[in-house]
Amino acid sequence: MKISPSILDANFGALQSDLESIKMADRIHLDVMDGQYVPNLSFGPPVLKNLEYPVEYEVHLMANNPERFIDLFCDMGVMTFTFHIETVDEAKALELFKEIKSRGVKAGICIDGATSPEALSSKILAEADQILVMSVQAGFGGQRFMTESVNKIKSLRARGFAGEIEVDGGVNLDNVKSLADAGADIVVVGSALMRQATEVRGEVIKLFQQA
Ligand code: DX5
Ligand code: ZN
Repeated sequence: MKISPSILDANFGALQSDLESIKMADRIHLDVMDGQYVPNLSFGPPVLKNLEYPVEYEVHLMANNPERFIDLFCDMGVMTFTFHIETVDEAKALELFKEIKSRGVKAGICIDGATSPEALSSKILAEADQILVMSVQAGFGGQRFMTESVNKIKSLRARGFAGEIEVDGGVNLDNVKSLADAGADIVVVGSALMRQATEVRGEVIKLFQQA
C-alpha cells in the first residue's frame, strides 16, 4: 500500500523538520479547510508554498466553491487537486476537472464519510483521475474509522473505476490490509503516524507500505 501522510497532526511550529521525518512516504497530503464546508480551519498557500516537499504532494480541499482555489494550488505545484462532491453539482464537477487537468494537475473528487458512492455519477467516474473515499466525516484528525468505507471502495471498483482510490480518515495498521484487499491504492495517515516520535516515523511508514 502507498502512504500519503497528512500533516494536519504535524508540529505547526516545525513543519519543515516534520516533513523531513516523513520523507520515505510516497506522497504528502495537505488538508485545506475553509471553516464553512467543515467547522475547522487549517492552513493555505501562504504557509504551504514556502515549504520544501521531499516527495510529491496533493491537496484535499474541504471548502465550498472549490473553483476559488484552483489557481492558487495549481500554481503551487500540487500533483493532485481533490475537492468534495458535496460542494458541487455534476456539471460543475466536470467543468472543474477540465480546468484542473488543463493545468497539468490530476483531478480528484472526494466523497465524505456520510456520502454514498452513488453520489458519483458514471460521467464523474469516467473523468476523475482519483477518488478520495473518506472514512470519517471531514474536519478533524484522530477520528474513528468507519468500516463501511471498505464496501464503498468495492462498489466503486465494481462500477469499473480504474483510477486511483485513496482512503482518508482513521486509517491505521489494523485496518490498512482490509483497504488494500478492497482495491484501494493509497491511504492517508494522520494521527497513526504523526503522533509517533519523529525518529520512528520512517519505520511506521515502512509497515504501512508492506501492508
Ligand atoms: C480529515 C482529514 C484527514 C485526517 C487524517 O478531515 O481530511 O486527512 O486529518 O487524520 P487521521 O488519520 O488522524 O484520521
Ligand atoms: Zn484529507
